[in-house]
Amino acid sequence: MNKIVNGISINTFGDKNNQPLVLLHGFPYDYNMWNSQIAYFSDKYYVIAYDIRGLGCSQQGDGQFTMELFVDDLFDVINLECEKRPIVAGLSMGGYILLNALYKDMSKFKAIILLDTKAEADDNNGKLKRAGAIKKINNDGLQSFIESFVPTCFWDENKNKEFFTETLKRCRFNTPAGVKGCTLAMVSRLDTTEFLREIDIPTLIICGKYDLLSPLDTMKKMADNIIDSKFVEISNSGHMTPIENSAEVNNAIEIFLNELNM
Ligand code: MLT
Repeated sequence: MNKIVNGISINTFGDKNNQPLVLLHGFPYDYNMWNSQIAYFSDKYYVIAYDIRGLGCSQQGDGQFTMELFVDDLFDVINLECEKRPIVAGLSMGGYILLNALYKDMSKFKAIILLDTKAEADDNNGKLKRAGAIKKINNDGLQSFIESFVPTCFWDENKNKEFFTETLKRCRFNTPAGVKGCTLAMVSRLDTTEFLREIDIPTLIICGKYDLLSPLDTMKKMADNIIDSKFVEISNSGHMTPIENSAEVNNAIEIFLNELNM
């Protein structure tokens, strides 16, 4: 089922009485990034996959977004859709939103899954890259940015696969204002590195073996700092693990969820 609430396009799958599982996609993608997980988990879980503001079918608005706004959107979706505390999974930008939301109120969450993401805020070099991205969209157009950015998210050997072409195609439907707005929001995220030690809910950490954006060593350190965490490396995958190796990701998530005794 799809509905638009406060500009956010929310898709729900399965029985609302089941344990809610919220999926937060990465940048500059949309909820379809999770299609394999939606198909796999919606029999047993109430799966909620919404488009982050500015992307997919959510409103692009004026593109003046902050990470705090994205956190508010997540809490609004949880309050609207979840009858019990959800398990929330976030990939990359979705992981930033999740970590910033936990920092604000961890009591809302039953367990979390962090995929191909990091706790560090952008450093100086990162901020310059974001400025370069906005400049590229303004000067060369959104398509040019998409063509240069999206391939960096996939393992080289997966770039001839249909899922790569399809993902690239879907990104082209986004708007310059929405993509720039998400870029600004990512710059405004908190650094949650120190906060990781305070996370005391069950946590699964997933990283693609060939992820260049949130590399293995960064994510292993994240796992070392979260008390109740489990780390899983995904083979044959870059940054986009749920798409590039959905079988291994689904298996890792299923084992984690089963261990939560639900
Ligand atoms: C993402 O996949 O969400 C982005 O790569 C995150 C980022 O650019 O920091």
